Amino acid sequence: MNKLTQDVIQSFSGIENPRHHYLMTALVQKLHEYVQEVQLSPEEWEIAIRFLTATGQKCHEQRQEYILLSDVLGVSMLVDEINHQQHENQTPSTVFGPFFIPDMPVREYGAAIFKTLEPDQLPLLITGRVVDQDLQPIEYAKIEIWQTAENGMYSGQDSQQEIDNLRGIFFSQVQGEYAIQSLLPVSYQIPSDGPVGDLLNFSKRHFWRPAHIHFMITAPHYHDLVTHLFIQNDEYLNSDTVFGVKDGLIVNYGRCEPSAKIEQKFNISSAYYQIEYQFVLVRE
Ligand code: BEZ
Ligand code: FE
Repeated sequence: MNKLTQDVIQSFSGIENPRHHYLMTALVQKLHEYVQEVQLSPEEWEIAIRFLTATGQKCHEQRQEYILLSDVLGVSMLVDEINHQQHENQTPSTVFGPFFIPDMPVREYGAAIFKTLEPDQLPLLITGRVVDQDLQPIEYAKIEIWQTAENGMYSGQDSQQEIDNLRGIFFSQVQGEYAIQSLLPVSYQIPSDGPVGDLLNFSKRHFWRPAHIHFMITAPHYHDLVTHLFIQNDEYLNSDTVFGVKDGLIVNYGRCEPSAKIEQKFNISSAYYQIEYQFVLVRE
């Protein structure tokens, strides 16, 4: 090992916690290896410093440009991969993303999360159960859901939307059932007006994420599940700019004709789309 690298690693020998010591010394080693390997020039070093500075300057309470950077570099999904080893039939997890808002309204079984339905729009009924790895129902699991509006923007990003539009909290029923009325999601572009946008443009990469609906499902004594449902046949399923797509999360939706039963149960009198999905949580 290079003498300088050795000296720097040695300088961190005072870190008592073994894990923290390992994190720091491995970082120094890999960083030094990278700089050696690419033979970094002073001009390139300065560009990197300016990029990281600009990334920090873009961050504020509602904007986390470093998370976005981690997402487009695939680091967020690598952390997900390492920490959510698949149990056989467990629902796969994926990126959390920067657009979650806590403490949204709790809604009744089957309630709508949209504020308005355009005359030409059909509601999307999402139904299924929350179960454990033995397929036993989990009652009272907390289901938090969020998605973009038709313009590809989340409430919180878009001053035209009320903050709880297309967001809400549901609780699963006795047999683990849940039902949510929403809208078909659309593919949308991640924020492009910061250094991460510059990086993607420079790399001739696109900004699109395939249409998806976010879910965070939590229940006492179970591991939290942070995931999305992606819509089949979306043109960006194979090139999600944050690499979040997993096969087990791609769902199909069907169009259903109006029925008295659905009208009575969910107050839907028109035709509607439906997705059925079973979420599987794993015991702690
Ligand atoms: C999202 O799906 O909300 C998202 C995830 C990663 C980066 C940007 C947006
Ligand atoms: Fe999203």
